[in-house]
Amino acid sequence: MSTDQQWDIVSGIGITALAVAAARAVETSRPDALIQDPYAVRFVEEARPPVPMPTTAAEAEADGARRYWPDTSTYIAVRTRAFDDFFQEAVAAGVTQAVVLASGLDARAFRLPWPAGTVVYEIDQPLVLDFKLRVLREQGVAASCEHRPVAVDLRNDWATALEAAGFDRSRPTAWLAEGLLPYLPPEAEEELFQEIHRLSAPGSRFAVETFGNVAAAMGKSAADGSIRSMGVDISGLIHTDRRPKPADRLGDLGWRTRSVAAEEAAAAHGRPLSDEFAKREAVHVFARLP
Ligand SMILES: C[S@@+](CC[C@H](N)C(=O)[O-])C[C@H]1O[C@@H](n2cnc3c(N)ncnc32)[C@H](O)[C@@H]1O
Repeated sequence: MSTDQQWDIVSGIGITALAVAAARAVETSRPDALIQDPYAVRFVEEARPPVPMPTTAAEAEADGARRYWPDTSTYIAVRTRAFDDFFQEAVAAGVTQAVVLASGLDARAFRLPWPAGTVVYEIDQPLVLDFKLRVLREQGVAASCEHRPVAVDLRNDWATALEAAGFDRSRPTAWLAEGLLPYLPPEAEEELFQEIHRLSAPGSRFAVETFGNVAAAMGKSAADGSIRSMGVDISGLIHTDRRPKPADRLGDLGWRTRSVAAEEAAAAHGRPLSDEFAKREAVHVFARLP
């Protein structure tokens, strides 16, 4: 299998999941934190990335004028909070099945208060899921839901793997695609939306992070920052081709959508985004199937 198809937590696309965990650890250390992810710090400590990553606000501030980590952790905190709230609202409305696509080091299955009987599926590459579950197991951390990891490449037939793991398409589902779309080629993204629609019972919900300006999000300055801060040039891993906006695509499929600009969400929390992040035009799309 080529490295294009498989990666671990300190190489290729996998290291982006570790960077998100570092950002969540930094946020968790703040007195005014928007989220609490007590496991993020352990992932960073255990992974030993090629370039050290911060786990506290003080370490992030050591970036000085460059501000890669403080700005990144603010952006990630706002997005994490938005999707934490999404899941909490879904379960409050009676949804008992969730799928986290490209879950990386997302620890929601372990840190959110899921009602009894809720099943949470997590899809990612095998080595990424193995690392996460090993670190959590070594700390004696148990899932707060019925947790089912599904190790499969989202460019392949992931739906069959999900159903083989027990996914029930007759139950309403809360789906999440956070930090995923720029890594998928356009045809895999189109397939993803169609499969999610096909697998979604009435009453299902879908939250998606999308960028109005992927080139700005993943362009030269983002690439320079990532090389210095993660040791990996992510620009070559990103697909910047034009594709339909997720809100439009889901609307065509019959979903009702609501879009919230990350910049507005950040301002509402009193944590404005840096100019560098604002120009990426990140949007959180919340869709519901009647
Ligand atoms: C930026 S991280 C986001 C992780 C997580 N959603 C979060 O926000 O913490 C991107 C994740 O997408 C996963 N990913 C990207 N392309 C994938 C694919 N084709 N199949 C499975 N996972 C993929 C990576 O392994 C990585 O964990």
